[in-house]
Amino acid sequence: MKILLQKCLVLAFFLSPLWLLAQISVQSIQIENQQAPQGVGVLQPRFSWQLSSPNRNVTQKSYSIHVLAGKKTVWKSGKVDSDQSLFIPYAGDELKSNQAYQVAVQVWDNQGKTSKVLWSEFKTSLLRTADWKAKWISSGIASDSVDGRVPILAKSFFAKKEVKSARLFITARGLYDASINGKRVGDAYLSPGWTSYNKHLQFQVYDISAEVKKGLNQLDVLMGSGWFRTRIAWENNKNFYGTQTALLSQLEITYADGSTESVISDNSWKASLSHILTSEIYDGEKQDTRIRPTTWSAVVETTASMDVLHAQINEPMRKQEQLKVAKVLRTKSGKTILDFGQNVVGWVKVSVKGNAGQAVKLYHVEMLDKTGEPYFANLRSAKAQAEYILNGEQQVLEPHFTFFGFRYVQVEGIDVQASDYQAIALNSDMKPTGTFETSNPLLNQLQSNIRWGQKGNFLDVPTDCPQRDERLGWTGDAEVFSRTAAFNFNVNQFFAKWLKDVAADQAPNGAVPFVIPDVLTRTTIGKENNQAGAAGWSDASIIIPYNIYTTYGDKQVLENQYASMKAYLNYVRGAAKNDLWNTGFQFADWLSYRVDDSKGMIGQKSAVTDNYLVAQRFYAYNTQLMIKTARILGKMDDYKEWERLLERIKMQFQKEFMTANGRLISETQTAYILALQFDMIPASLREASLGRLVANIESYQYHLTTGFLGTPFLNPVLTRFGRNDVAYKLLLQDTYPSWLYPIKVHGATTIWERWDSMKPDSTFQDPGMTSFNHYAYGAIGDWMYRTVGGIDTEEFDGAGYKQMVIKPELGGGLSFAKTSLETPYGKVSSDWRLDSGVFTLTVEVPVNTSATVELHRLGANQMTQDGEMIPGNRIRIGSGKYVFTVK
Ligand code: BGC
Repeated sequence: MKILLQKCLVLAFFLSPLWLLAQISVQSIQIENQQAPQGVGVLQPRFSWQLSSPNRNVTQKSYSIHVLAGKKTVWKSGKVDSDQSLFIPYAGDELKSNQAYQVAVQVWDNQGKTSKVLWSEFKTSLLRTADWKAKWISSGIASDSVDGRVPILAKSFFAKKEVKSARLFITARGLYDASINGKRVGDAYLSPGWTSYNKHLQFQVYDISAEVKKGLNQLDVLMGSGWFRTRIAWENNKNFYGTQTALLSQLEITYADGSTESVISDNSWKASLSHILTSEIYDGEKQDTRIRPTTWSAVVETTASMDVLHAQINEPMRKQEQLKVAKVLRTKSGKTILDFGQNVVGWVKVSVKGNAGQAVKLYHVEMLDKTGEPYFANLRSAKAQAEYILNGEQQVLEPHFTFFGFRYVQVEGIDVQASDYQAIALNSDMKPTGTFETSNPLLNQLQSNIRWGQKGNFLDVPTDCPQRDERLGWTGDAEVFSRTAAFNFNVNQFFAKWLKDVAADQAPNGAVPFVIPDVLTRTTIGKENNQAGAAGWSDASIIIPYNIYTTYGDKQVLENQYASMKAYLNYVRGAAKNDLWNTGFQFADWLSYRVDDSKGMIGQKSAVTDNYLVAQRFYAYNTQLMIKTARILGKMDDYKEWERLLERIKMQFQKEFMTANGRLISETQTAYILALQFDMIPASLREASLGRLVANIESYQYHLTTGFLGTPFLNPVLTRFGRNDVAYKLLLQDTYPSWLYPIKVHGATTIWERWDSMKPDSTFQDPGMTSFNHYAYGAIGDWMYRTVGGIDTEEFDGAGYKQMVIKPELGGGLSFAKTSLETPYGKVSSDWRLDSGVFTLTVEVPVNTSATVELHRLGANQMTQDGEMIPGNRIRIGSGKYVFTVK
């Protein structure tokens, strides 16, 4: 009877949903890091998936992948015994262009459970250059120039039969905005984005099956000048990539009966001038909405390289938040200003009705001055203006081929109804991955500012700033911020795309230009920029691929960049004399503290670190990362050679920049931070160096004095060497210079370019270089996630959070910190609170990963899990949810 009852219970369990819950399941399949991508452009796409299970300590034991094209199997991996669940390359029949494939994944775990099969799909783009039948076309209109009206290219075509699918493959030398039968194609903006157009150009794929109808159809494409030919960088540097914009468009129609037809760009298209009178990246856009194109002329076929074309690999730019007007302000001089409450990048969507011919002007600024008037000076020559001439009807208006960095908008030409205006945030549509919240509201605002700074400046290219006549892919800024960026959003594809341009624009001698895409060649700093490399800037070519590999465990980025990384290291070796990098131009610790800046706010002396001392440290850093990279990729000859090189670099550093007692020639925070971070100081002298660093910080009354290159390592070094107390004091400092000063004193909503972009007396820094949206100093975010939150990945076999460390460090009077990160394996979270002397840490670790939880600074042998004492306050755990306490 008892046995029967037991059997019934077992049966009931298997029939109930509980049984399903106890299973391992495949949660999401990523193909080339995207979910169900519509335009895979590689012949061997890689498959990744996440797993979930209610059980603890679950790992994958085996997997099987099955790929079909319709009913036909094109690849079966078979059951493979492996715990690899990321980046498994397709190894079946050769993929065809413009085809749909279905993917099925099943896994088996280490606890004898089998998942259900999860299905996904992907479509290929045009995989080979020969698949392109389309011709490059330009408007052929004489007045079509960088300053002229925006042309529109159009094609009417007849679809003979019922349409089953219609996919548009399209790109431009310039920016395009396409519509089919009057409806905008896709939800991406500023496409095809910004690359080194003549060497690397991405095309996009859109499914317009629902819009293309049997019968007559109309394809219209507005052709903006964008980054391709409007003024970029300085010195009126126009037409950088060419004088004529051009379109490449190929529509592939599949009819219901299976037959196909292509509609391509060629000389049968027509051109006219549109209602967009001018459109410029820095200056903005002017539209006369009364204009309808009337006269049409034939386009011209042009030539441009087809070999540079690649299907887009990064997320397109899409609209994000829509912000309402927080306040309407009237200034003393009578201006009407909209305050959106947040410094944002994108544009304003306005819904208006006025008289035909009435002009409405919007001027975008980041700040108001002391007297409440809009502050234009820091835009330098950028007009940052949207102007619309109304047509008399109710209209919804926004620009097409420009963007602005702003919080305030001055409106002219119409009476303002706040509800008619919305600020639209625009950025690369990266998936948010990290969350960070603590008991300190100022710290939470800092995190918000870092995130907004990243959003606004990750607009296809990682830019320095979004508002003034610059907005360039400054390598140094991206380098210092890249680790933080990878916590807030998934930036794997974003950087993989940009790194292609790093390699494409690299000089033959291996030097990496200061900005990528490189547009400084024709400016006066062109020579230094193209033939040299600056420490901390050009080093992005090594540091970013390594950071991306570590975060996502994606070796391909290292494989793809290896030649570029190695060429750059060789460039630095050539620039160095006897392994000492002491030649050439250096930005060094850019924008570090200077007494003159805010008139001796904290007294003391300026914190200027010797240029070549900084360069030598980055030479060591680059070499360290190359040693690791060579090890990961199994390049053992390189590995051995660079190990020896690193020893020599350190010896030279000590000879040139350090006394026998460990004093450095520059007595600055940055000098000691970098020396400690990169192990440049012999172990026996580290303690003393740390003492000097802390004494320096104390002498500035716990204010930082670091610039772009010292700042990212300041708190990590203090934590590593046991001075978390000082790190927290710096983090929570709220007078100038500090991270919280702009928030506490001036209500900042993004990270500023300088510690005192607005000074304590509410005047501005030098308008020649004062941005209020510059993410570099936001590099503290990395330490906040890793140390306050306590989430970090191991390197090598542990990369991509396969093996991680959960090690929150308390301090700063915080009573809780809640941090989570969507890793490639799934969500990890570290949530701690301190309540009446009891510290509780709740940790969640995804399936197929493991973590070392460490609380060793919280007093010996005090840590318990489920009432069990954990010796040494350190434990290795597998997947699952755990609660630890320390009394
Ligand atoms: C940019 C920076 C950049 C720097 C280097 C500035 O104009 O805005 O952030 O890294 O130049 O000189």
